[in-house]
Amino acid sequence: MVSLTINGVQRQIDADPDMPLLWVIRDILGMTGTKFGCGVAQCGACTVHLNGEAVRSCVTKVSRAAGQQITTIEGLSVNNNHVLQKAWVEFDVPQCGYCQSGQLMSAAVLLRENPNPTDQDIDDAMSGNICRCGTYPRIRAAIHQAAKMQQEGAKS
Ligand code: FES
Ligand code: FES
Repeated sequence: MVSLTINGVQRQIDADPDMPLLWVIRDILGMTGTKFGCGVAQCGACTVHLNGEAVRSCVTKVSRAAGQQITTIEGLSVNNNHVLQKAWVEFDVPQCGYCQSGQLMSAAVLLRENPNPTDQDIDDAMSGNICRCGTYPRIRAAIHQAAKMQQEGAKS
């Protein structure tokens, strides 16, 4: 048994300690917002937060996540109201959508660490998240918009 805290809920999981966290999230817990893309840490589709840091769950053994705080796209906000989610809607960012939960989870770490990122900061931080549909310009625009919303929210 492995004890995990996912999106604030503690779970006891009957899984091999070497099983990738992504398998646990999707196949055992049935939380399918986190996607399987490459399986070898190359695309970012499986990005989740482990103690607030972005990790690739396809290459993270579940044993590494035991006792830690895991956040998936389902737990990024309570009502899909994270500033990034609002900006994503406003800019109609997704095309097929497959990469987008990974994009959002990476962008959330970026915005937390750098509330006013430049284009270059965004490109650097997001370079590990591949989008086969090429939504990069909208992702960049939406991150700028989310940064603005975050700053306005902080002032109000
Ligand atoms: S599925 Fe994990 S990085 Fe591609
Ligand atoms: S929206 Fe299709 S892969 Fe990114």
